[in-house]
Amino acid sequence: MGITNLRTERLELRPVRDEDVDRILEYRNLPEVTRWLLRTEVDPVSYRAAWRRSAADPDDHSVAVVLDGVVIGTVSLDLVDGMGQPGMPARTEAQLGYIFDPAYGGQGYATEAVTAMVAYSFDRLGVRRVTAGCFADNLASVRLLEKIGMRREQHGVGDSWHAELGWVDGYTYALFAETWRQRDTSAARHSGGRRS
Ligand SMILES: CC(C)(COP(=O)(O)OP(=O)(O)OC[C@H]1O[C@@H](n2cnc3c(N)ncnc32)[C@H](O)[C@@H]1OP(=O)(O)O)[C@@H](O)C(=O)NCCC(=O)NCCS
Repeated sequence: MGITNLRTERLELRPVRDEDVDRILEYRNLPEVTRWLLRTEVDPVSYRAAWRRSAADPDDHSVAVVLDGVVIGTVSLDLVDGMGQPGMPARTEAQLGYIFDPAYGGQGYATEAVTAMVAYSFDRLGVRRVTAGCFADNLASVRLLEKIGMRREQHGVGDSWHAELGWVDGYTYALFAETWRQRDTSAARHSGGRRS
């Protein structure tokens, strides 16, 4: 809640509205979408209620990703505490998730949207670390996270339950604000100082 609209080269990122939920449900439960999700099939009523709760939650900065007026995906972003002893500053981490309509897959849209949300987390929310997790065999997700410069911090051997495959490997990724900024300036240098 509270995210202002963001624009990328091709996309608009804005809060999820109630009327988006039917459109999201057109792809959310497809087998190719649920295959590597932790929350597999969702039922429409509780799914709508969950989006309403998230819209009212100040720590939830999830967005709908819109291409030419059509919602093609969602990026979830939750502000969380890291782990630590008493006195630890609160809400210094953001957890990322993303689900896109496969009809628009493979064109870099998820990468473009997630990149914008990582920049938003560091530049606007001021977090120090962004994290994301996935099944090790979710190759599109692994590729996306590595493309945007996230570091694989954990390879959980057989730590994740998959409904059809049983216990399989999971990965967690993370990125520091500082690393992101360094990458940003070096990218700007290499493109002659232009920032995208
Ligand atoms: C993961 C997901 C968001 C990617 O969306 P997308 O719009 O296709 O992503 P992009 O086009 O930005 O990038 C995907 C990258 O993965 C690569 N990729 C896709 N499928 C792949 C596969 N089976 N094996 C290897 N690489 C693959 C693409 O080639 C691309 O990399 P490239 O730019 O080097 O060519 C989308 O597939 C999705 O919503 N999946 C279902 C939900 C899900 O699994 N969410 C993540 C949970 S952790």
